[in-house]
Amino acid sequence: MEKGMNTAVITVSTRSAAGEREDTSGPALCTLIEETIGRVVHYAVVSDDQSAISSELIRVCDEICADIVFTLGGTGLAPSDVTPESTESVIEKAVPGISETIRARSLEKTSRAMLSRGIAGVRRNTLIINMPGSEKAVRESFEIVLPVLGHAVELIHGSVKDCGRPIEED
Ligand code: MTE
Repeated sequence: MEKGMNTAVITVSTRSAAGEREDTSGPALCTLIEETIGRVVHYAVVSDDQSAISSELIRVCDEICADIVFTLGGTGLAPSDVTPESTESVIEKAVPGISETIRARSLEKTSRAMLSRGIAGVRRNTLIINMPGSEKAVRESFEIVLPVLGHAVELIHGSVKDCGRPIEED
């Protein structure tokens, strides 16, 4: 896969946004992205606040025009966890296979994968993927989605002529 993608990383954590806890997951994902698929053109830490998350997602999709934006955290069952709802409110197309696969494959690592409600979808030319927030979960989730990211971005940009080519080319 060529390293040509423009990506964004949004950590969702009220404590990290307030400077009370260092965000290690965001920087870890930025490094993984730069080693594999491309550049991180935007990194932000936002509170567990539905309108703040939605506004940030809209900015990344409509103004920054990233190919992919990963959100980290806020997918669980706590009253403050609203990342999936924020994402749902801004996407135009849901891509359930991505989140289904993150959960299914993550179950091989921890039964708590059942507790992540993360979703994925497309807004304009940007793919949004929710991931659980711990650094461990982020590393595991990125490894799971990595093989399809190139093809997903090609499809979104309408530049794929032959979807039937061997998956080894991804
Ligand atoms: N998925 C993977 N791959 N690895 C993990 O360690 N942690 C789970 C789950 N998904 C985990 C995972 C836990 S403990 C929780 S509570 C949920 O993700 C939600 O995490 P979040 O609230 O940080 O989004």
